[in-house]
Amino acid sequence: MTDLASADYFSDGDLAQSPFDYFDRLRSRNPVFREPNYGVLMVTGYNEVVEAFKNSEALSSVNAIGGPFPPLPFEPEGDDITEQIEAHRHLFPIAEHMVVMDPPDHTRARSLLGRLLTPKRLKENEEYLWSLSDRVLDEFFDDEQCEFLGQYAKPFATLAIIDLLGVPEEDREEFRYALGAAERSGIPVGALDHRTVAVNPLEYLDDRFAGYLADRRREPRGDILSGLAAATYPDGTTPELLEVVRPATFLFAAGQETVTKLLSSALRVLCERPEYQKMLREDRSLVKPFMEESLRFDSPTKVDFRLAKKTTTIGDVEVPAGTVVMLSLAAANRDPQKFGDPHEFRLDRKNAHDHIAFGRGLHTCAGAPLARIEGHVTLNKLLDRMSDIRLSDSAHGPEGDRKFAYEPTFLLRGLSELHIEYTRNP
Ligand code: HEM
Repeated sequence: MTDLASADYFSDGDLAQSPFDYFDRLRSRNPVFREPNYGVLMVTGYNEVVEAFKNSEALSSVNAIGGPFPPLPFEPEGDDITEQIEAHRHLFPIAEHMVVMDPPDHTRARSLLGRLLTPKRLKENEEYLWSLSDRVLDEFFDDEQCEFLGQYAKPFATLAIIDLLGVPEEDREEFRYALGAAERSGIPVGALDHRTVAVNPLEYLDDRFAGYLADRRREPRGDILSGLAAATYPDGTTPELLEVVRPATFLFAAGQETVTKLLSSALRVLCERPEYQKMLREDRSLVKPFMEESLRFDSPTKVDFRLAKKTTTIGDVEVPAGTVVMLSLAAANRDPQKFGDPHEFRLDRKNAHDHIAFGRGLHTCAGAPLARIEGHVTLNKLLDRMSDIRLSDSAHGPEGDRKFAYEPTFLLRGLSELHIEYTRNP
């Protein structure tokens, strides 16, 4: 059993495989508990995590991704370190992306994204996703087996965003390759432009989108990229090119891995619980609650971070300015005070929808509607086209002694591989 005094959540490989016992033990000590290695305040209670998410007045998002890494680039002084944060903001990881911004910059960046993620655009994107799902399945379908993450979830999640952003058809396969979602599609490396080989994916994306948008600013074409290129801030001013490029390219960082993890954890449960497979097959209205319970049960974003810019409180604990706060969505979603029998996956759970897998407050996931649609389309297509979907005994061991490896990261929770077998429906 994990010893709270010595456990290092941030580097312990066993905790990455199985964090829930540790989260439970933290929460029963105190839902707001200062861990000893880095002095990070670990928040594991549902109410306390929600309270902290909403307290953007005192808690900055500047360290949302890295938490205690790298260490703060300054020595916090006093009860309000807002000015110190602003003076050093550029030194924090991915400072150029909205997820680590605070108002008013965050408000401006998010407003540009709102121009893209309109209900109309999401509807069109959904129509594309139904046919995309078939196309990705067709690539391996006759084999009656697959490694689900590499062969389906990753290419599907990547191509979903490529379509959302309106990348021209002729460039899509190149994007898929550059974003690491085409290892298995058999595209010869030499067939692609040399720029796509051995590049940093986010730099590649910035470069490509800057090109598209500059082109559309010069010559609008009535396509999605032209709409994005013409987007203005609410006050009517025109953003710099990079200010539009960044919200667009960040979608890949935010929406590829997370969705891949959600789809695979949902499918694992579907394989392990044939009774659910039968129920969902017969009543498709159950797909929605099934996805919500999947989000609660194995929240793809395990934890998120904040930096106290002003001395404040969370629950009954005082939080001095300069404290690194870890908000654990995965722990909150298994808080027994909120969700009875929290370690059980229960399709009939009445309040599953209250989960906070997409966060809360100003930074609530902008892609949640898309993630939900991707889950809905995928489960429906799998149920339409496959029966007897099961785990591969040779890859995961026999029933009763299954083995699964999770990605060794403190930030996200997701299977490294999921090997399944199935029977094709006629
Ligand atoms: C199951 C899948 C997903 C999960 C669990 C998830 C989770 C989250 C969480 C917890 C946040 C809040 C971060 C914070 O408060 O610090 C967030 C933010 C964000 N997500 Fe997602 N996400 C998912 C899918 C997506 C998708 C598909 C997209 C876009 C295509 C996306 C785009 C974003 C963006 C742009 C933000 C930043 C919002 C802001 O800073 O205002 N996410 N996501």
